[in-house]
Amino acid sequence: MTLHLPDGPTMAFGAATASYQIEGATTEDGRGVSIWDTFTARPGATRDGKDGSVACDSYHRYAEDVALLGDLGVGWYRFSIAWPRIVPDGRGAVEPRGLDYYDRLVDALLERGVTPTGTFYHWDLPQALEDAGGWLERDTAYAFADYAQVVHERLADRVGVWATLNEPWCSAYLGYSAGVHAPGRREGGRAHRAAHHLMLGHGLVAQALHAGGSQDVGIVLNLAPIWGEPGTPEPAVDGVDAVRNRVWLGPLVDGAYDEGLLRVAPELGDPELVRDGDLDLVRGSADWLGVNYYTPVRPGPAVPTPEGEARHPETDAYPGVDPVTFHVREPRTDIGWEVEPTGLEQLLVDTHERTGLPLVVTENGAAYADGTIVDGVVDDQDRIGYLESHIAATERARSAGADIRGYIVWTLLDNFEWAEGYTKYFGIVQVDPETQDRTPKASYRWLQQHLADRKG
Ligand code: FCB
Repeated sequence: MTLHLPDGPTMAFGAATASYQIEGATTEDGRGVSIWDTFTARPGATRDGKDGSVACDSYHRYAEDVALLGDLGVGWYRFSIAWPRIVPDGRGAVEPRGLDYYDRLVDALLERGVTPTGTFYHWDLPQALEDAGGWLERDTAYAFADYAQVVHERLADRVGVWATLNEPWCSAYLGYSAGVHAPGRREGGRAHRAAHHLMLGHGLVAQALHAGGSQDVGIVLNLAPIWGEPGTPEPAVDGVDAVRNRVWLGPLVDGAYDEGLLRVAPELGDPELVRDGDLDLVRGSADWLGVNYYTPVRPGPAVPTPEGEARHPETDAYPGVDPVTFHVREPRTDIGWEVEPTGLEQLLVDTHERTGLPLVVTENGAAYADGTIVDGVVDDQDRIGYLESHIAATERARSAGADIRGYIVWTLLDNFEWAEGYTKYFGIVQVDPETQDRTPKASYRWLQQHLADRKG
């Protein structure tokens, strides 16, 4: 087994989770408070009023989850490390029991022949750092690099592939502009500051890990194909693309924010924010790029949301861009996201062309309102259809020349789905919220067979 980015003749397969979504045990073993603990305590923050304090209890049941991965036959497991478990106050004292947990997890994975890949930040910022301004403050990027190095020192002998950030677009724009994710702030264009500091944090971590001998440091982005609806003003479509995609790819590939982006995000032209050397640090810092894909983004001409109808969650997540209305075509999953596998194919081909980097589909999957267990089976045929069509789209992109190393399904377990609480199920394994019993769904069995066939 190699601990490096897979580069065999065929794609590697994996499954993904994130710390706050599955671990629970939020007050155990010295873990500090995270912004998601605080945010979920706000009335109305999550659809069911629930939080991640128990989640899938994976903190205690990780061995069971590793066994599920082993039996599934995936080569890779993408997990995230909870910063508040390692450095409870965000900076300063390290909590050894937090490190011990991930140490045990990694060893259990390796014993089952599953290669671990760690993400340093899947959204659980220590609350102490948010109290000091969070990602709007430059210092947070430096604290992030210090924390990541602590984890790296402990695990780098067994974890070779790292991702710095997961979907910084969500952290910056859902967190600090739309306010629908933690920390739930509505700061408008100041969210661009968060975007820059997140990228700076990524650059600092990459630099430190490279100096520490790692060769496979990547970043995971939820890039999206932006398909403007007929009649949408071109500057608005361009603005959505700028804030969703180019704000990350520009620094990574060119070491620059482009002019179209600066038009909607003049904040990024402020030399006090973007200091000399910041963008040079980020340029070329990623050895690979993770692409999370669920659905295309279709901005249309702005129309007011009819009364009584829920606003699209991405409304207000593109500060500085002229208002648009997001269209969602049929068919849709249970979370209301359009199913469109060609979006993934196009995105992978375009992203490969744009970046030249090895790509991994680091998340892809679907929420469906699964039925109950009948004769021990959750018959989620719709999820199987989604996975099958998107794996095929990934293969088509590979055949078209995109350098795609792996496909990682979101997600192993039904879990805490952020603002949706426990109302949307993305898992290939059902988790009973009362008993925590895990029941593999038909999609798990399908993927298991698919992987066995590929090997055969
Ligand atoms: C992504 C997140 C992941 C999960 C899926 C459905 O945006 O990275 O944690 O919630 O969406």
